[in-house]
Amino acid sequence: MKPLERIQELIKAIEKHNHAYYVLDNPTITDQAYDQLLKELIELETQYPEFITPLSPSQRVGGQPLEGFKKITHQRMMLSLANAFSEDDLIAFDKRIKNLLNTKHDITYMCEMKIDGLAISIEYNKGQFTYGATRGDGTIGEDVSGNLLTIPSIPTLVDELSTFEVRGEAFMAKKTLEKINIMRLENNEPLLANTRNAAAGSLRQLDPKIAASRELDAYFYYLVNGQSLGLTTHHECLEYLDKLGLKTNKERKRVTGIQAVINYVESYRNKRHTLPYDIDGIVIKVDDLLLHDRLGYTAKTPRWAIAYKYPPEYVHTILEDVIFTVGRTGKITPNAVLKPVRVSGSLVSRATLHNEDFMLEKDLHLFDTVSLHKAGEVIPEIIEVIKDKRPLFATPVKMITHCPQCQQPLKKIDAMHFCVNESCPARIEEKLIHFVSKDAMDIRGLGEQVIKELYQKKLIQTIPDLYTLHQHRDVLLNIEGFATKSVDQLLLAIEESKKQSLERLLFGLGIREIGEKTAKTLAKRFLTLTALIQANEETLLSIKDIGPVGVQSLLSYFSDPMNNDLIRLLMMRGLNERYLGKVNVPSDSYFSLKTVVITGSFVSFGRDQLTDILETLGAKVSGSVSKMTHLVIYGTDAGSKLTKAQSLGIQTMDEQQLSEILKKEKV
Ligand code: IVH
Repeated sequence: MKPLERIQELIKAIEKHNHAYYVLDNPTITDQAYDQLLKELIELETQYPEFITPLSPSQRVGGQPLEGFKKITHQRMMLSLANAFSEDDLIAFDKRIKNLLNTKHDITYMCEMKIDGLAISIEYNKGQFTYGATRGDGTIGEDVSGNLLTIPSIPTLVDELSTFEVRGEAFMAKKTLEKINIMRLENNEPLLANTRNAAAGSLRQLDPKIAASRELDAYFYYLVNGQSLGLTTHHECLEYLDKLGLKTNKERKRVTGIQAVINYVESYRNKRHTLPYDIDGIVIKVDDLLLHDRLGYTAKTPRWAIAYKYPPEYVHTILEDVIFTVGRTGKITPNAVLKPVRVSGSLVSRATLHNEDFMLEKDLHLFDTVSLHKAGEVIPEIIEVIKDKRPLFATPVKMITHCPQCQQPLKKIDAMHFCVNESCPARIEEKLIHFVSKDAMDIRGLGEQVIKELYQKKLIQTIPDLYTLHQHRDVLLNIEGFATKSVDQLLLAIEESKKQSLERLLFGLGIREIGEKTAKTLAKRFLTLTALIQANEETLLSIKDIGPVGVQSLLSYFSDPMNNDLIRLLMMRGLNERYLGKVNVPSDSYFSLKTVVITGSFVSFGRDQLTDILETLGAKVSGSVSKMTHLVIYGTDAGSKLTKAQSLGIQTMDEQQLSEILKKEKV
């Protein structure tokens, strides 16, 4: 047999055993025999590297690290679900459906576990995995194929030749989280908070080897466009996925009438804790696919499905200490240090106590037993003190009078305490952290820890110091954990950040009351920082979306000589002061008001860049081709979207034609 043929045979055999082991939980071969097959494959691939494909089982241990994730525009938007929190909400959901369908008959629903992980979407084409993406903002997600392929229960090959997309949830089993956390504890690494964050964090690793080490799993729960594969109900879709080897959750039931749904939900209220994975509710879907079309969608959610969420859990734990942190505005926040406890699937050891009034109102004492829940299942919140359990030695928690970092006296403004010392090290560190953060100047590689380290080593003391850091490359290289590559990447990221648009700089300065949205409004209105600084009170007050408090804050910030010096330094060091976003969408461009779809790859533009250009010219860029599409712009390797456009008789355009039009538009 030729080597290529043997390789293909081995791949098929190994994938079949993977399916039996990881999906069906029913191994068909001994571990040794399996290892033997894999060994033979790897040996052949080493001998004939030209035959290695990214879909080979040998690559499942994780391929090469990526620089970043490619963006993927979903063929169909990835929606979320409306929530139900009570029996009444479920009854209302059922009523709404009957009303919309104009029927009195009971509806048949599928009830499924709402797996608490990260939504994924995978495309198969000609029987092969083509890509897998995260949800992103629903329209555009990130291509995490490399990481998804490390999940052994996700098949690389399926027995269906037409192109289809399938949605599911990547998750981490409870046991896996425990195992990983035990290891992390031993290595003194921070623990993964819960299975959801662990799954999300693992899928977003640029190094697939790390993702592989996290041992994720996946369940599929939705076949996009099942009807085009001849299926008529959701339960048939799930059965079809099973047949294709795409793992579905067997904890599901088809029931008729909302009372049966309620019974199902009730039956899992306690049982859910015994499942090997975390769920945060039950998803209820209308079974008949024709009804999906008739019920349709709201902007964000399908009308044919709902997620029932179990109420948050309350737990008791002990308040062991209170520590005070200083924010960048000098605001002092008291934080409870709690005896670690699990709430709704995550380990909680901290909770904010907001301010002095909150502590007084709850009458908090050190060593009190407190009841705790996670607000919105995310932020832990102390609900009350269990007074009966207060030990005799408990002492009332007191607000501090001096800054824990710089020891200067605090000032009380309304309910809050502030450290008003502008040179307080804690404040400066927080200001720096804010300046470089993702929503501000977005300097990658400058996390909280790095900033703290650079600040403590006196390499940066103020924001402008960031931009002279390259002069200290040698010192940086001597810091433990800083390799040449990471130092150079960091310096490059800092240099690149000089080009950021005005709104990011403005937000990054951390002016009180000027959040991300206001910063953008101001940047759009004034276009340059100089113009904004020169604006008078009247002009500022005339801007919609900015109130008098915001205006006062701006005026006082720009009239402070220290801030002026800081801005002057930043300008001298070459930071951009202009707004670079869209200003006014022209109505007379070739693309105005046209719905445009981009497909394939281009020589002269990145996809995002092209989207920006077209949007600036007034186009609406959409992810999928439909009768509403005016124009499809295609590059090389354009796939089904181009074919579809052609079959619908929609205008198409290649890169050269596009460039000519852009030239005329003076882009
Ligand atoms: S159906 C149009 N089914 O819950 C299909 N979602 O809050 C929409 N999820 O983004 C999703 N288990 O990440 C569906 N059995 C299940 C699910 C499920 C978990 C997640 C999914 C979705 C989120 C919506």
